[in-house]
Amino acid sequence: MAGLVECSGVSIRFKARGAWTEALAPTELRLAPGSFTALIGPSGCGKSTLLNAIAGFVQPAAGGVAVDGAQVTGPSPEVGVVFQQYALFPWFTARGNVEFALRRLRLPRAERRAEADAALAEVGLHGRGDAFPAQLSGGMKQRVALARTLAARPKVLLMDEPFGALDAQTRASMHELLLGVWERRRTTVLFVTHDVDEALTLADRIHVMASGPGRIIETIELGDRATRDGPAYMDHRRRIIALLRHREE
Ligand SMILES: Nc1ncnc2c1ncn2[C@@H]1O[C@H](COP(=O)(O)OP(=O)(O)O)[C@@H](O)[C@H]1O
Ligand SMILES: [Mg+2]
Repeated sequence: MAGLVECSGVSIRFKARGAWTEALAPTELRLAPGSFTALIGPSGCGKSTLLNAIAGFVQPAAGGVAVDGAQVTGPSPEVGVVFQQYALFPWFTARGNVEFALRRLRLPRAERRAEADAALAEVGLHGRGDAFPAQLSGGMKQRVALARTLAARPKVLLMDEPFGALDAQTRASMHELLLGVWERRRTTVLFVTHDVDEALTLADRIHVMASGPGRIIETIELGDRATRDGPAYMDHRRRIIALLRHREE
């Protein structure tokens, strides 16, 4: 099964005002094929930095990232990324935005169009391919962004606070949509959030991070999805909130 991510001893440093700072201390992270993992932590603790290292956008100072055993040296179509900002091209239609992501496949025009429409249908935008981003709500724009990423059939899907700008109701419907996509495709997902309930709703494992330097301080296994509203859920919730407040219980 494809989509295994292995970070070993990954550390990342940035130079700010002439001095090096360690944004991420040496970090071990393994994402099993088909797993759904959340990273949660306060602002500035290195969540995006770790995600960007897996995406190949940032080079580690030490250690390395491998996807299915191959060292990550830069961005690859096998690793799809969805950001909070939709980053759609405003001059392309929804379909045009998805087709743009497919251009490297060099498909015949009709096939490329069909693939784009299928990806849009998968995210609930059937028949909306001709709409321009400006004509779409925030939730719909983020659906287009997700369709664009999924169309390239990534083995790993990295999401950096993708629903952070959406209202609560839209966010809840995006959660349902994403879980549906994940159950069908079993793409390995890494989901960055600072929302405890979002992490608890979506993931089967949560890594809690802290800053100074950025690191994983605790890992929580959530187990069976069917019992997410039971007492164990409330215990996990309390534990994560306590960790985020830098208090041990
Ligand atoms: N390109 C960069 N240059 C300098 N410092 C950076 C850069 N990217 C991130 N940082 C610093 O690294 C730390 C972690 O940032 P980030 O990964 O964005 O945190 P998070 O996503 O958890 O909010 C922060 O202190 C941030 O200021
Ligand atoms: Mg971030």
